[in-house]
Amino acid sequence: MKRVADIIDAARQMGVVIPAFNVPYLPMVEPVVRAVVEQDSFALVETARPEWIKFESKGPAAVAEEFARWCQPEHVRLHLDHVPVIDEDGQLVDYMPIFKEALGLGYESVMLDGSRLKLDDNIQATRTIVDLAHLQGVPVEAELGAVLGHEAGPLPPYEELFASGLGFTDVEEARRFVQQTGCDWLSVAIGNVHGAIAAGRKDQKKIQARLNLDRLAQLAQATGIPLVLHGGSGIKQEDVLGAGKCGIAKINVGTEIRQSYEAALKESGSQIKAQEAVYHRTVELLRDYLHLTGIRAKLM
Ligand code: 13P
Repeated sequence: MKRVADIIDAARQMGVVIPAFNVPYLPMVEPVVRAVVEQDSFALVETARPEWIKFESKGPAAVAEEFARWCQPEHVRLHLDHVPVIDEDGQLVDYMPIFKEALGLGYESVMLDGSRLKLDDNIQATRTIVDLAHLQGVPVEAELGAVLGHEAGPLPPYEELFASGLGFTDVEEARRFVQQTGCDWLSVAIGNVHGAIAAGRKDQKKIQARLNLDRLAQLAQATGIPLVLHGGSGIKQEDVLGAGKCGIAKINVGTEIRQSYEAALKESGSQIKAQEAVYHRTVELLRDYLHLTGIRAKLM
């Protein structure tokens, strides 16, 4: 069976962007997998610490158990998303036990988010997870730069953020970071922002973000590894497809399918209808937004 690191490398070479779908509610796993399989596509299913702290995914073990019920490894693999060293509420996280648990559960790739640390501390923390995960042949995603939006406060006005490049990943720092950590994939900030997760703001429609593709091309050149786009909901389509040609190989999509699930559940009271809403939105994202129908055979 092809390893997920090789699949993401293949995506990078082909210039396509593989989605990683967040599942803050366990019943979202089934319709996501169904959509990916029916589109003869490929995707990751992922869970992030904020989703078991602030939503209902319960934790890496519960997600792995639900994933195992539906998993078809030719189409979907399981990824551990965002385990922050300092979380969105400014609290220090005891992250090592979470990685040990996830690796024991069979997660095929993992992400340490040290982006709220100073550069050298981020390098040091990322190195510890690379050393641990690589013992099991598991690739590690890291983050450099500030993909804002998960924090409780409001974002700065988007146009100001984009024009000033606030929090954008620095090219020379990225070069050094990748050399010194040995991370496999790097999440970069190039205009992308996370959908809100704070109570009171999590239902808001997300702004349409754009991407600085020139900065992305420089980052791809400097790092030489697959790059990752967080905050994947609602980015201008042309920019996402362009990003695939400039080094982005993975895009994390959370808010779009979470809000589809929550809105349908609220309106109908039916979990089945909420799952159907997730299924339809996932199909649209794969087929119409990312153009990934039938990609599986080419990637494998
Ligand atoms: P969105 O919720 O904005 O799609 O971002 C998801 C994400 O980046 C999870 O890591």
